[in-house]
Amino acid sequence: MESPFRADILRGQVAFVTGGGSGIGFEISRQFGKHGASVAIMGRRRHVLDAAVSALQSEGIQAIGLAGDVRKREDASRVLEEAFKHFGKLDILVNGAAGNFLASPEDLSPNAFRTVLDIDSVGTYTMSHEALNYLKKGGQGKGLSTGGLILNISATLHYTASWYQIHVSAAKAAVDSITRSLALEWGTDYDIRVNGIAPGPIQDTPGMRKLVPAEMQSDVSRDDRLLHKLGKTWDIAMAALYLASDAGKFVNGTTMIVDGGHWLSQPRYIAKEDVKNLSRVVEKKSRKSPVGIPSSKL
Ligand code: HXC
Repeated sequence: MESPFRADILRGQVAFVTGGGSGIGFEISRQFGKHGASVAIMGRRRHVLDAAVSALQSEGIQAIGLAGDVRKREDASRVLEEAFKHFGKLDILVNGAAGNFLASPEDLSPNAFRTVLDIDSVGTYTMSHEALNYLKKGGQGKGLSTGGLILNISATLHYTASWYQIHVSAAKAAVDSITRSLALEWGTDYDIRVNGIAPGPIQDTPGMRKLVPAEMQSDVSRDDRLLHKLGKTWDIAMAALYLASDAGKFVNGTTMIVDGGHWLSQPRYIAKEDVKNLSRVVEKKSRKSPVGIPSSKL
């Protein structure tokens, strides 16, 4: 799909994307690159990074892959330094690395719970903390667009509650909280904007492969109603572009939901026609007998 944005909106910018080797992180890296940015992607698996970097370079994007684990502070500081040395600066950090699997609380050990919080929440904090010195630009007090940007990839699971996702829900709730706190603190002190994106179900991502069993995938992808259909990694990348560009320069501390309204929907227990009829019957009854006044007294 073609981008509605001008091809140079990120010209000269350098972006660092954790989890940039696949799924949403890859498409953000690709679209940032296609709009003028140079991109460093970080992930744990060398072969995944290599394939992603080749794909980016084949589209004319300046890209490097740096192997590391966001759970390890020494990895975080090493790869950020390598990216800085390679490109000479760092403007945007995207915290896209995440871990997920389906597990009910009975089957989820405390260590498994901690593992996901370590990747998603502590990882987001660690990367942001280690990137701070690079993201500062000494533009304090000159408006929000002078500092760098942190973009945290979140989710909508924790707005309500999601089956078998207690660990991820807790982790992403912490990510949203980190987004707000850093937006306050680093927005004030360094003009660094910190925002999030909460994607809904997005097709062709590791998340979907883990959360929706293969045998259910064709049923899910067939539903074309806005609130039910699957998003594309492109949708998330476009939101990221908006937030990273000057168009988003006054947006700070927000997590943008990009899900077609999916999180608002709950299973529909009563058919639409039945609701209409039921509602009319109830209205008629209450007109005859206002609440609290027995109809015999009217
Ligand atoms: C129960 C499990 C489990 C499972 C692992 N564990 N898989 N418990 N059910 N299916 C437990 C292990 O037994 C162990 O606990 C603990 O978790 C750590 O497991 P390890 O395998 O040692 O961890 P590690 O090798 O570091 O792998 C981390 C991982 C893995 C999260 C388990 O899946 C991973 O690396 N994921 C990264 C890629 C990924 O998941 N991407 C999808 C992101 S999607 P014990 O107690 O035995 O030691 C996403 C979308 C969110 O984030 C929103 C969706 C709408």
